[in-house]
Amino acid sequence: MTKYVIHGGKPLFGEIEISGAKNAAVAIIPAALLVDGVCRIENIPQISDVTSILNILQELGADVRTVNRTTVDVDCSHVRNAKVPEELARKIRASYYLIGALLGRFGCAEVPPPGGCDFGGRPIDQHIKGFVAMGADVEVGGGYIHAKAKSGRMQGTQVYLDIVSVGATMNIMLAAVLAEGMTIIENAAKEPHVVDLANFLNSMGADIMGAGTDVIKIRGVARLTGGTYSIIPDQIEAGTYMAAVAAAGGEVLIRNVIPKHLECITAKLLEMGVEVEERDDAVLVRRCAPLTRTNIKTLPYPGFPTDMQPQIAAILCIAAGTSVLTEGVWDNRYRYVDEFRRMGAQVQVDGKIAVIEGVKQLTGARIRACDLRAGAAMVIAGLAAHGVTEIGCVHHIERGYEDIVRKLSGVGADVRVVVTPDEEKQAQVG
Ligand code: EPZ
Repeated sequence: MTKYVIHGGKPLFGEIEISGAKNAAVAIIPAALLVDGVCRIENIPQISDVTSILNILQELGADVRTVNRTTVDVDCSHVRNAKVPEELARKIRASYYLIGALLGRFGCAEVPPPGGCDFGGRPIDQHIKGFVAMGADVEVGGGYIHAKAKSGRMQGTQVYLDIVSVGATMNIMLAAVLAEGMTIIENAAKEPHVVDLANFLNSMGADIMGAGTDVIKIRGVARLTGGTYSIIPDQIEAGTYMAAVAAAGGEVLIRNVIPKHLECITAKLLEMGVEVEERDDAVLVRRCAPLTRTNIKTLPYPGFPTDMQPQIAAILCIAAGTSVLTEGVWDNRYRYVDEFRRMGAQVQVDGKIAVIEGVKQLTGARIRACDLRAGAAMVIAGLAAHGVTEIGCVHHIERGYEDIVRKLSGVGADVRVVVTPDEEKQAQVG
């Protein structure tokens, strides 16, 4: 079992380099299925979700070559298989992008329902609605989603999303780039990774307009050809380290970011008394004074991101006064609160609302990461706490944060990785 052991209370000073965006990478890599030639993809984060999606492509027959630590060449020209292995697909949420990419490439796809963090129900009805509108039959059975374009090729059409969905927007885009005619997605998601996927596809010869607005128009083209593309920096990784500085105090330059993508996070940190200075491709974050309360509601971009909700909750736990946090995207994203309570946090949850009474000091405890961002929030709480925090189940964190322990240690945090024999095996032996 691997755990992180944190001796809290040490302010952070120095620089942290942000990696490529997870949620862009896990869509852009399967998008290579649509390309006839080699895609050189740069600024890839070294995280386990990326390894999983690359492994799936290799299983399907893609040629994946590592060029250097952050660059891979992916060539899917010889892929002939549209059935995704079950074990691999269940490990990650983003395996749903294989439905759109395989439908676009072959007119058919067999993909197991996706895995990923547990936030209550995570339906994909809007993805399916889009594929059906584009002329596919979609059935679920035998542990698989079976999708097939009735005419052999996806057909452009108009799709209105009932709910703003990042995954549905990007999946329909994938199914549409090689479709016959024009696809129009209305009420589309506007997240930076939606724009990044469109930019990747356009750089390979696609014809996509309006990404980043709520109407995206995709004119189908006959073929995409290879090229080189660099993934944008990770908005949520950057926001997580901004929150870490707010929690621990100190001054850190967070480099390789797009400050515009961070504005929704910066605005709330400023309200809480954190100093944030924007540079061209960096933000300087400084916390010298005590934190003050605020209210936050998570919303689709450009609103405050749901993927920063647990991390901001960690710092609201030590902000003077009472804060109200409203989750506007997921039904059940407060499963981590019990772990915070072990550290002395005062949080009451009622449905989608958490009321947080700031305490002077959290205290270290033994806790478990229950999902990716909740795990990151526990690291932040541990940095702020008095005493020692031990975090178990850190594989959740490593799904989405490259080298989090090295990056935090580099700015003065006392965080160590400790590997102990598996408790279950120990019990069996004993
Ligand atoms: C993406 O998930 C991200 N995952 C999530 O990040 C993120 O929390 C979420 O977008 C919202 O920003 C990836 O990009 C791999 P949605 P996704 O479709 O696409 C409802 C992280 O920590 N909905 O935008 O699955 C849904 O229930 C992860 O990095 C439907 O009702 O999210 C939710 O309430 C966790 N029907 C809302 O829409 C659908 O068909 C938004 O979901 C699809 C979604």
